[in-house]
Amino acid sequence: MAITRVPTTPFSDQRPGTSGLRKKVPVFRQPHYVENFIQSIFGTVEGSRGATLVIGGDGRFFNETVVQTALKMAAANGFGRVLVGQRGLLSTPAASCVIRKHKAIGGLVLSASHNPGGPEGDFGIKFNMSHGGPAPESFTEAVFKRASAITEYKIDDAPDIDLDRIGEIRIGDMTVEVIDPVADYVELMEKLIDFEKVADLFRSGFRMRFDALSAITGPYAKAILEDRLGAPAGTVVNGEPKPDFGGHHPDPNPVHAHDLMELMYGPDAPDFGAASDGDGDRNMIVAPGLFVTPSDSLAILTSYAHLAPGYAEGLAGVARSMPTSRAADRVAAKLGIKAYETPTGWKFFANLLDAGLITLCGEESAGTGSNHIREKDGLWAVLLWLNILAVLKKPADRIVRDHWAGFGRDFYTRHDYEELETEAANNLMASLRAKLGSLPGQRFGALTVEACDDFSYTDPVDHSVTPKQGIRILFKEDARAVFRLSGTGTSGATLRVYLERFEPDPTRHDLPVAEVLAPVIDAANAIAEIAAFTGRDEPSVVT
Ligand code: G1P
Ligand code: ZN
Repeated sequence: MAITRVPTTPFSDQRPGTSGLRKKVPVFRQPHYVENFIQSIFGTVEGSRGATLVIGGDGRFFNETVVQTALKMAAANGFGRVLVGQRGLLSTPAASCVIRKHKAIGGLVLSASHNPGGPEGDFGIKFNMSHGGPAPESFTEAVFKRASAITEYKIDDAPDIDLDRIGEIRIGDMTVEVIDPVADYVELMEKLIDFEKVADLFRSGFRMRFDALSAITGPYAKAILEDRLGAPAGTVVNGEPKPDFGGHHPDPNPVHAHDLMELMYGPDAPDFGAASDGDGDRNMIVAPGLFVTPSDSLAILTSYAHLAPGYAEGLAGVARSMPTSRAADRVAAKLGIKAYETPTGWKFFANLLDAGLITLCGEESAGTGSNHIREKDGLWAVLLWLNILAVLKKPADRIVRDHWAGFGRDFYTRHDYEELETEAANNLMASLRAKLGSLPGQRFGALTVEACDDFSYTDPVDHSVTPKQGIRILFKEDARAVFRLSGTGTSGATLRVYLERFEPDPTRHDLPVAEVLAPVIDAANAIAEIAAFTGRDEPSVVT
């Protein structure tokens, strides 16, 4: 074996964001760019000598190339064994599951999640720790520091390995095990979900559509829904992962999963619709004629999780990211369990899960998960819904409406302003921060500001403080607007504005979302002076 030490110079832009390092493919294709970043990760991992590492990605363009590079670098950096998904594939939740099951020291997950793929699309590299969850900021900052001062990287000059064939092979002193990317995940789902009951549901003629959006969950969904649970062939559509996701934007929301929305709102809607994103950690749930917001979905899963074998003993607690609606908090209060509010990003849930403080968690951005792994899990959420549907024997839209009737409805929408000038976006946030002291008591249209702040999070487990996680404006009329800048965008800045209003009166639950939220939207636009700062009259995406 020959280990080469390749001299290199740092790139200044290798600071990981909300979810690892995410950039355009051409940025990643610059000579040494990938190697520098991977070397910086390997240099930061403690105790890597002889340890087991997991490698896999969502199959997007450039995935296999980076997998091959990472394998050779892992060998040169002294790892003992690498588990790599066949064809370099592993969904994000499956990677988390494999890391935990095989007691790996961590995993390299190659993905840009729901961002578009292809030669001009996005790519990403993130590192997950031995608990299976995203690396905390202390780790990613250490990686960034190393990357900023790197002088060489180590790589084995072995040829590429055959990623198609399941089995063992060696690179230098390291063993590479090419594994079935689906098997461990299916085994875990079987422990949590009542497969028998869900199979009965399908036997009774229940119809569903799962749209994998030509991304990673296709093979997982086919293996579980069609092969194991007996859903008819064709239940999973767009089930072949494609390097460019078939030109689609693999983000499961009403805008990008429009085919599914059309079907579910049409005359021949099946009983249940679902979709997942590029790397399989997000989920979208649609009842016939009714899109279920991720915030409501989290609340409903919190209500009924005990109906699934994995949660039969009840929940320890529930957590949601701050911009997620408070629907889950209302359920937690009724169940007498604690509700936690964390900053945006899955990494903040890991400590709460590890400490056993929560069992379920979720984000408004279509992420839902539980203590079974340390990532959000798209297909798991769909399976838990199916388990609940199989037990309650009620239509999905009925379940949602009954939930609103019992707890009130949190009307919710998110406005994204994408590809803004970074400076304009920063100025908007700075001006908003400067106004915070003077806003309470001020009236904007029909609403009056009650309180506002810049969300700061103190982790209840390690007591670390994460400041500046988004501006929250609470209105007296039980409404809220939240402003923050995205940490996952790859060009310019993205402003996210989260808008919600609570409505306890069931006779008003069927009002159009846009109508109920119009006063909140107007107030938010006025307070943040969005048009003046950004030059935009309307958001790029409304979900
Ligand atoms: C977005 C979502 C956030 C999610 C993250 C990774 O981050 O808003 O909830 O955890 O993607 O999937 P953002 O771009 O807002 O920083
Ligand atoms: Zn994702």
